[in-house]
Amino acid sequence: MHISVLLEEAIRYLNLKKNSIIVDATLGYGGHSAYILKNIPQGYLYAFDQDIEAIKYAEEKLKMIGQNYEIINTNFENIKKELNKREIKADGILFDLGVSSPQLDNAERGFSFHHDAKLDMRMDRNKKLTAYEVVNTYSYDDLKNILYKYGEEKYASSIAKAIIQYRSTKKIDSTLELSEIIKNSVPEKYRKKGHPARKSFQAIRIEVNNELAVFETALKDALELLKPGGRICVITFHSLEDRLCKQIFNEVSNIPKELRKLPVVPIEYMPKFQVIANIKPSEAEIKNNPRSRSARMRVIERIDDYGKKENEKIKNN
Ligand SMILES: C[S@@+](CC[C@H](N)C(=O)[O-])C[C@H]1O[C@@H](n2cnc3c(N)ncnc32)[C@H](O)[C@@H]1O
Repeated sequence: MHISVLLEEAIRYLNLKKNSIIVDATLGYGGHSAYILKNIPQGYLYAFDQDIEAIKYAEEKLKMIGQNYEIINTNFENIKKELNKREIKADGILFDLGVSSPQLDNAERGFSFHHDAKLDMRMDRNKKLTAYEVVNTYSYDDLKNILYKYGEEKYASSIAKAIIQYRSTKKIDSTLELSEIIKNSVPEKYRKKGHPARKSFQAIRIEVNNELAVFETALKDALELLKPGGRICVITFHSLEDRLCKQIFNEVSNIPKELRKLPVVPIEYMPKFQVIANIKPSEAEIKNNPRSRSARMRVIERIDDYGKKENEKIKNN
């Protein structure tokens, strides 16, 4: 079972109207999408997911609510191409990043260090690169960099060294095998601070699915796909994604630094977006769903009357 994170908050901040056009970039098990669909009886929902298993499950849920939706089985990096093809601009776009609980719990998918499985970690099983390729073929430097950059793992070099050493005699086949290698390559005291393989598994998953680059492209495209007054809600689960989101939101909602001292900022440099919220789950939510502990939601809005106010100011001067 997947418990949707920041569900009420996402619905509230998406500002749903009966006829809203909404894009759920990460359908997953349909938790957010089901709520969205209930609230837009005359609108339309476009829902993306690259995982066909998640789609099959979510479809069952959505079809009980209405027919005004389309599920698009592709990576959300194609959001621009897919919406342009349909000539659509959105009133709201939701990203609820990462993997869902059923993906983690299905041992076969090879995402989790709790279940023994073949190393896989692909969200889209049609893609070629798997965790097996990463740990068995990447160089020491590449492994170390990935663990450091995507896992913020301070023992990146000892873990990378241990992986290289182990695989010189035998390929690393399974999640538990990898988890043991990691556990044995970090100091005893580190093993007591949560699972020692958690950060490395996150890092390898990000590499396998190219998560940060894909998110960056999709978020920048999503900003351009909003109607005036439309909003984007982004729910992230680790600091790398959150930082990237914050940086992109800051870039588009602020006047460029070098122009801030000008007495009049040219209208084309005035921000077209405003940041609306940056929130964390409540204590009650964290208690009910510990997975939500690391979640954060950032919200941005495309300024509705962009240009009007600035033109008035110029006329009045
Ligand atoms: C956290 S779950 C979403 C859960 C959903 N909001 C719910 O309440 O049931 C994230 C989902 O996004 C999908 N996903 C992650 N990255 C994606 C991408 N780049 N393109 C398409 N789907 C992606 C995953 O397959 C997963 O099903």
